[in-house]
Amino acid sequence: MSSVELQTVRRALPIYAARRDLITECSQHHSLIVVGETGSGKTTQLPQYLLEAGLASHHHGNVACTQPRRVAAISLAKRVANERGVVLGQEVGYSVRFDDCSSHLTRLKYLTDGMLLREAIADPLLISYGTVILDEAHERTIHTDVLFGIVKAAQHTRKARNKKPLRIIVMSATLQADRFSCYFDYAKVLYIQGRQFPVQVYYSPEPQQDYLHAAIITVLQLHQQHKHQQGDILVFLTGQEEIESTERILVKCSHHLPTDCPKLIVRKLFAALPNSQQQKVFSPNPPGCRKVILSTNIAETSITLPMVKIVVDTGVVKAKGYNPLIGLDILCVQPISKAQARQRTGRAGREMSGECYRLYTEQAYSTLEEDTVPEIKRCDLSTVLLYMLALNINDVLNFDFMDPPSLESMVTALEQLHLLGAVHKTTQLELTDLGYQMSKFPLHPQLSASLLASQRLSYHTLFREEILTIVSMLSVESVMFTPHNKRDQANSMRNKFTSLDGDHMMLLNIYKAYKVAKGNKEWCHDNYISKHNIVKVAAVRSQLKQICSQLNLSFKHSQDSDAIRLCLLHGFFMNVAEHVQDGHYRTLSTRQEVYIHPSSCLFPCRPHPHLVLYSDLVHTSKCYMRNVSIIEPNWLLEVAPNYFKQTQH
Ligand code: CDP
Ligand code: MG
Repeated sequence: MSSVELQTVRRALPIYAARRDLITECSQHHSLIVVGETGSGKTTQLPQYLLEAGLASHHHGNVACTQPRRVAAISLAKRVANERGVVLGQEVGYSVRFDDCSSHLTRLKYLTDGMLLREAIADPLLISYGTVILDEAHERTIHTDVLFGIVKAAQHTRKARNKKPLRIIVMSATLQADRFSCYFDYAKVLYIQGRQFPVQVYYSPEPQQDYLHAAIITVLQLHQQHKHQQGDILVFLTGQEEIESTERILVKCSHHLPTDCPKLIVRKLFAALPNSQQQKVFSPNPPGCRKVILSTNIAETSITLPMVKIVVDTGVVKAKGYNPLIGLDILCVQPISKAQARQRTGRAGREMSGECYRLYTEQAYSTLEEDTVPEIKRCDLSTVLLYMLALNINDVLNFDFMDPPSLESMVTALEQLHLLGAVHKTTQLELTDLGYQMSKFPLHPQLSASLLASQRLSYHTLFREEILTIVSMLSVESVMFTPHNKRDQANSMRNKFTSLDGDHMMLLNIYKAYKVAKGNKEWCHDNYISKHNIVKVAAVRSQLKQICSQLNLSFKHSQDSDAIRLCLLHGFFMNVAEHVQDGHYRTLSTRQEVYIHPSSCLFPCRPHPHLVLYSDLVHTSKCYMRNVSIIEPNWLLEVAPNYFKQTQH
């Protein structure tokens, strides 16, 4: 679109009518809550209004706008740079973990909430910013929740010290406005009048045994019933695998539709999908076609799909849950909240009136939670508590949280940090030198502890390079790309990388081979390695290496697999399982029953390895350990004497 056309589009957005009021309110108040339907223009326009009104300048300070998802931060920055006709990374930029596209010229920066939290560690008063916009606040990610407290404290401190004032704007798509307002010293709430057409809601008369099956049947029926009407269908599913298998079935079925029916185009949408593919959901349909979009909850609020007329809501979402039995976060499929159900319904009424089919009964709806439980109340807190301690927030137990996490989950996380050597004692909350070093890495403390163990351990050769590679591999989605119909070929091609010691050494072998092949595209293709993901690994690795040099950590190579796995054990000694019988394992920490994941290179290993460490757990039909390495029993006491004496192993 030309820039003139883009300006016309900007003026047509619902928020444009409120432009003048918004500028006035922003210049008069230090805290504001802005509520408006998804797609009304909050995220792309409001920050620009501040720029245009001269409220974001060298003198006033820059504008930060946070997003829960990195894809959203990047695509919003691109969109806004486009609208303003500027080069991305100059006036408008973004910053997400392992990718910073901003400069000293940047006045408006879109960044993930995690990145702003990291910036706050270096500068708790966030002094370079005049305005912080906490966007998508209704999602209540753990980072947003911690940021609420940090920006509120920064605002108060800056006022008390007569420094440049900090303006806080909280933006949300759903109506939790009163709670936000109350928390931010009774901030004024502004409502953006959106466009919303009526949506008729239908419930399933009977509970569905299999929501995927029900979704497929519903899509095919509705498509045929509405053959004379336009409008796309949006289906909410839970994750990539599910979306891809549903896609295959729908594509197959679409070949057998009656000839008088419009053609059905299947499109998918999830956060890990490369941007070029995501864009396909926005392309206009060829005449006589209808799109069905299979999406995760990303289409609930982050992404606007204008032509949707029918929403099919499975009523479930994949979300992080903390499993205290295992002491780890696991992603699992859970029922949505009423607020989410309403938000999904609203997606059908963007441009015309619509219909929403809930694949659950009205009675089931009435049992749903009113609002989504904030992430901070249901996930592992060790990473954020480490960051908070690095921010000198020592009294974490009494921190001004909007919704405080349970005391139990805070204590568990502090214990973990203590065991990893990051805090002195769980009563006297101060970071150790190691803890400070760990806080410099945008990694889970278990990973940074493994990385730093390689530095500290003088009883072995130093082998940072290899650990750096493994940690980077663990920080990115799997580099192994296995098309569903070529599983055997993919596995046999990758056989050459496997290691008798386990998956972590295999990851190292893959990266080394990739380096030898000099990142060759054909090599990746032939070996079923995702080029996209392994390029990301290389970028992550170089960033981590940069942080290491800033900390004056030196680099050496080692081929010693024992030493490498010992380092991993320094971070993951809480994730150790022993073989009981017939491939059935129990974790040492909680005696939870676990199994080696079929994708692991130790899966076929006989006899079953006696003792293993794992860096991931996935919960499907059983609880599976993924990324598993063999360890020696005598290492346990060497690495974590206190821990293992305590649990008597
Ligand atoms: O934040 P809110 O949901 O209120 O709206 P927004 O994200 O500012 O989006 C306003 C309009 O810009 C929508 O019509 C989007 O379709 C469009 N947009 C876009 O084309 N590309 C993006 N990356 C983001 C938004
Ligand atoms: Mg938005």
